[in-house]
Parts: sequence; structure tokens; C-alpha cells
Amino acid sequence: MSASSTNSPPLRLAGRRIVLGVTGGIAAYKAAELARRLKEMGAEIQVVMTEGAQQFVAPRTFQALSGRSVRTTLWDEAAEAAMGHIELARWADAVVVAPASADFLARLVQGRADDLLTTLCLASAGPVFVAPAMNQKMWAHKATRENLAVLKKRGVRQLGPGSGDQACGEVGPGRMFEPLAIRDALVAHFSHGPLSNVNVVVTAGPTREPLDPVRVFTNRSSGKMGFAVAGALAGLGGTVTLIAGPTTQATPRGVHRVDVETAADMLKASRVAARTADIFVGAAAVADYRPKKTASAKIKKKAPVLSVLMERTPDILLAVRQRHPKLFLVGFAAETEKLEYHARQKLASKKLDLIAANLVGHGRAFDRDENTLRVYWTRGGRALGTASKTDLARRLATLIAGRYRKKS
Ligand code: C5P
Repeated sequence: MSASSTNSPPLRLAGRRIVLGVTGGIAAYKAAELARRLKEMGAEIQVVMTEGAQQFVAPRTFQALSGRSVRTTLWDEAAEAAMGHIELARWADAVVVAPASADFLARLVQGRADDLLTTLCLASAGPVFVAPAMNQKMWAHKATRENLAVLKKRGVRQLGPGSGDQACGEVGPGRMFEPLAIRDALVAHFSHGPLSNVNVVVTAGPTREPLDPVRVFTNRSSGKMGFAVAGALAGLGGTVTLIAGPTTQATPRGVHRVDVETAADMLKASRVAARTADIFVGAAAVADYRPKKTASAKIKKKAPVLSVLMERTPDILLAVRQRHPKLFLVGFAAETEKLEYHARQKLASKKLDLIAANLVGHGRAFDRDENTLRVYWTRGGRALGTASKTDLARRLATLIAGRYRKKS
């Protein structure tokens, strides 16, 4: 189990895929710091270096910082076989070139595709950011000014440069933007929406309670709804940590995922994540009971009847509420009958701000793509209708964001 520590910065770039292009200039050393800053916010980084960049910093430095082999050429057969350059361009949510040399900017203007980085910029459908860095006279030159004007018109986003002492001994504009400023510009780019700067935790999926080393008690939850809610909250700009029980669901874009197995694991991860959370959504189908004892060896099938003594698992939402009375808390209720009655009981007993309720059983809800959802709060409620879980998740996320804003 891994969970974000309270000391590291919030994972505002969790799951964001960034190609970090490094071109030839003394500021290339600052790109190493940038790689580190992006990574600690949860971004996945693929560093691409031009030939010039490698004259300043060794690829090994970026490899260590990014956790991936650095790409340096179009002609590396092994790297291309693993992920071709067009695939890499599609993979990236953004391309950031820092430092962007005067030569690189000129080549970008021309639409060149004679090295990997220019090719990626040409093939990428996502945004391209450039952080220019060069001598102040090169920066002031008409050629550079005109190149930047063209790039701006084409939608390339310019970060900096700053002004001040330069490595060449001159003073003036042309210093690469500081890594933290570049990182913050990317965070701002990815976190537009009503939940930007809001930390959200979502639990999802079933839990698995071991009887012995090979057998478990679990339930039919697929995790689909919780994963969709996590994705929808991230889509509204939230910084989302998804605490997931065992499921085959793919991690939604922009979400930091923590995998757990048992209710006890989920509680532990939830406690850690709740410390920095603003909104906590309990969408997991946490097992209500677990075997009181887990056998250390496989239980042999000798007895004709096997009794297993079960004990209650901890209630995660309740535990989180007890420790964080002000947290905006959302629960789910899956009921086979008297939906509103049972949902309101849970709303009150767990002191939730909001509860999303649906009927289950007889082919409803579990492992299906469609669902019917109603939402209740103390003095109100709303039907979200019948739709795909993805659509309902979006409607629910919007409602959560609205009610959270109203409360805070
Ligand atoms: O009490 P009940 O299980 O019906 O309540 C459902 C809600 O409580 C869901 O939001 C579920 O994620 C949460 N829950 C929990 N910990 C448990 C049981 C349920 O957080 N042990």
C-alpha cells in the first residue's frame, strides 16, 4: 500500500503525462529541477533531449529523476518499438520545452521534423509550452521576436523568460523561468474548473477479507461508479486521490490511485488521505464483516460443514467523520427497498453532507453500466435520473462541487 505523505506537495499533476523537451542551453540544468518538481506532484514524465541538450547535461540525470529512459533520437529502434514517436505524441497531455533555445524556436516555426522533439511538437494534438532561455541579445533579435509572434498565433504557450543575471555575464531578459513557475503554470493549465485547488478523496470498489492464504470474502462491486466519480471530480479540476479495492477498472486520467485490499487497509489509507482532504467520497462497497481469524495455512476440506466466525469491519466514513467534523463527506447507499428511508438514516448516522442512493438486486446496479441515482441532503434531495454510470458520475460530481462551494 502506498499513500501520499502529508509532507509532499499535493498531487495536482497526478497521472498527467508530460513530455519534457530539453534543448541545448546552459539552462538545461534547471530542467533537471523541473523534472523533479513535476514528478513530485504525480506527473508521468518522458524526457526528450536534443543533441545540443546532451552537451550540457547527461541523459542519465533525467533518467534518474523521471524514472524513464530518456529519448534522444528518432532512430532508436528499441525505443521506437516500445513506443513509436507518434504514439508518444498521442500519449502526452502536454509537451513542455524547457529550456527552449533560439534555434529550437526557429525550427518549431518552420515545422521541422528532423529530430524527435520537433517531430513530437508537430504530431502532438495537445498543448505545447515553451520556456525560452537565451542570451538577452539573441532574445531581443528581430528574428526571435518574429518567431515567437508566429508561435503565439499558432497557440504555442510561452512561459517567460525572466529577467536578470545571465550565465554569459550579461544582465537582461532571457533567463529561463524558474522551475516552480513552470510547474505552477502547468498545474493551472490542468486544474481549470470549480474544484481547482480542492483536494478530494474517493474510495471505490470492493474490499477483500482473507479467510486463509488462498480464500477471501468479497462482494460484487465492480468499482465502476466510484472510478467514474473520481474521474468526473478530476475533470472539474479537483486533486483526486482514489483509494481502490481490488478491481479491473483503469485509473481515470489525472487521478492518483492507491490500491488496497482489506477494509483495514482502506481505513488506513483513508485516514492518511483525509488529513489533507476537503471532500471525501465513500463509494467503496466495504465488506461489513470479515473472518475473526485468518488461518495462516490453507484450511483443508475435511469437515462436512465449516463455520466461520465473522466480526464487523471498521466503518470508514464514520471514522473519517469523527476525526474531521468539517470535511465535506459524501456517502453511497445501495438498498434493495425503501431507498429514501434507508439513505436518510445513513445520512444522519454518519453525519454526511450528501448521500447518493440507488436500488440494487435483481440485475440492478452492480457490474452494470447503467444506474439510477437519487441524492439526498439534510433539507433536500434530487433525482439524477437513469443513465450510464459515467454520465451519472458527471452529474453527481457537479452537484458535489456546487454543494461543497455553498458550504465552504
Ligand atoms: O452502512 P452502509 O455500508 O450501508 O453505508 C454505505 C456507505 O458507507 C458507503 O458510502 C460506503 O462506502 C460507506 N462505508 C464505509 N465503511 C464501511 C461500510 C460502509 O465507509 N465499513
